[in-house]
Amino acid sequence: MLTDWNEGHTAAFQKEIMSFQHGLEGTGLFSDEALIELLEKHPSHALDVCSMGDPKHPLYPNKLRTGDFRHADGKTLLKAAQSGLVWINVREAMNIHPEYKSVLDQMYGGLAEKTGNKTFSAKGGILISSPIAKVPYHFDKTETILWHVRGKKRMYLYPLTPEFIPDTGYERAVVDMLEDDLPFSFDWDNEHATIYDLQPGQALTWPMNMPHRVDNQTFCVSVTTEYSTAASGRRNAAMLTNATLRHKFGMNPSYWNASPVENYVKSVFGRVIKKTGFGAKVDRKDYVTFKIEPSAENFIVDIEPFERNF
Ligand SMILES: [Fe+2]
Repeated sequence: MLTDWNEGHTAAFQKEIMSFQHGLEGTGLFSDEALIELLEKHPSHALDVCSMGDPKHPLYPNKLRTGDFRHADGKTLLKAAQSGLVWINVREAMNIHPEYKSVLDQMYGGLAEKTGNKTFSAKGGILISSPIAKVPYHFDKTETILWHVRGKKRMYLYPLTPEFIPDTGYERAVVDMLEDDLPFSFDWDNEHATIYDLQPGQALTWPMNMPHRVDNQTFCVSVTTEYSTAASGRRNAAMLTNATLRHKFGMNPSYWNASPVENYVKSVFGRVIKKTGFGAKVDRKDYVTFKIEPSAENFIVDIEPFERNF
């Protein structure tokens, strides 16, 4: 699956922004026909059909919205993503279905062979997104690789410094599973962004937690894989401790300014409070606010919101 990997890639892997070539499209598992079949057999609890609220929408301006897709067949869902405002996250598609799992094993088997890192237990989802879909400025809490398969998308990556990923933003993401957005300004793009125009067959990786955003230029199909490491586990646990100190004890801790020893102690403490349930946490409900409707403009019809139960 890694078609142009060399020693330079091995040296830069997980340390720098780096792209390499892959052979996912050649598997035939990402064609329209294959995706339609996948959408029909994928369990609904692991399928997200989303849209971004129009800035002019009275109720949902610029808000990520969850849709009800249960009555729509695979063909309709794919059409909605190809023409409308809809994007689809087929969560863990690469793990759940044997034919995709065997490709995931080849992807990570290849990486393990090239980099010597054998302990990947990767999860992989398939992102099917419309020509105008955007993923807002955010960071990922685990090591992530974007394997782009079809279409064109522009990726913007920003420095991994407290200015671009403040302690409070990181802590919020650790505490709240649905929240990983950060404060962002378009003014940063000129001076601070590294920009990649991703082509089919190209994969991109970056140092863990590096903030980024994505603008689609066309209909796109990509695979995103993620995996935890000892380092990501330690960092997330330390952030949970800091969030708890901030919200339950009114303190103002910082991951960036603390010594490695202090952060290590905080990570041990964070694992304990996570287990005991003492740590700061947010229970946020996921509300469904639209449904997929083939006859509607952009395939979207607003509905009376209800808590997601599928
Ligand atoms: Fe991301």
